Amino acid sequence: MYKSVSKRISNTVFSVFIALTAYISSGNLAQAQDIKGDAANGKAKNAMCIGCHGIVGLQASFPEIHKVPKISGQSGAYIVAALQAYKNGDRKHPTMRGIAKSLTEQDIHDLAAFYTDHGVDNRPALGKQPNIEPNANVEALLKKGGCVACHGENYAKPIAAAYPKIAGQHADYLYVALKAYKTEKNPVAARNNPVMVGMVKQYSLSELKEISKYIGSLNGDLVTISQTRFK
Ligand code: HEC
Ligand code: HEC
Repeated sequence: MYKSVSKRISNTVFSVFIALTAYISSGNLAQAQDIKGDAANGKAKNAMCIGCHGIVGLQASFPEIHKVPKISGQSGAYIVAALQAYKNGDRKHPTMRGIAKSLTEQDIHDLAAFYTDHGVDNRPALGKQPNIEPNANVEALLKKGGCVACHGENYAKPIAAAYPKIAGQHADYLYVALKAYKTEKNPVAARNNPVMVGMVKQYSLSELKEISKYIGSLNGDLVTISQTRFK
């Protein structure tokens, strides 16, 4: 009896070992372990970012006028994913592509570590429910897409670290982002993420605008913190 149990255990251990070896040799684990973000180094590297992300209310004019997104308080793993998407061309935005291409993987992780904790003390406490009820129209639109299932409670607690917090993000930016998934063939404005490309297909642009207005009006973790180079 003892024998057969221990044999079963060692078989299990063996197959876990095989699976792990396959995983490591495929590069996944090695990559995840090798690169760790360092917030202090990220702070030292953000001079290139604050000219846009460190100015409260700054407007960008491409592909249409909208506020530069808030990135302080965003999920670190999502910041990494977003920067990699600009770098590898899954997101076509030309300015952010140029910037992301100049960053090493280490820079990306350091900047993400810095921005995810930036402004932690200024975050409003979030309740169980969004602080503003959607109107019936918006409620139906959000329900149809099941947005909360991924972006999480209050649209501020994504179920996976690599998914974005969207509550309280600038509404005009949310709209530009959603539109970018809808125009996935546009060579300079598109975003290719398959999940969101599929998601936005069911909505008209005016519906996406309604959704953006509502989600942008909610309390969340995201902020823009005024930063100057000489402080
Ligand atoms: C010239 C202005 C400018 C500079 C400089 C800049 N950004 Fe951006 N950033 C933008 C704009 C505009 C967007 C929105 C792009 C889009 O629509 O996809 C953006 C998007 C992002 C996003 C994605 C946000 C999201 O919610 O998906 C991240 C992350 C980001 N920037 C990080 C950085 C970092 C880190 C730096 C410095 C290394 C930097 N940016 C420098 C203007 C700028
Ligand atoms: C199955 C999971 C899932 C569902 C459901 C989902 N999303 Fe997303 N969402 C994601 C992921 C993953 C990303 C990041 C995509 C990328 O890297 O470009 C994202 C990105 C976004 C962005 C861009 C955020 C930014 O900072 O640029 C917005 C806005 C957004 N989603 C809104 C919505 C809305 C509104 C709905 C419902 C209609 C919805 N999502 C449903 C997973 C989901």
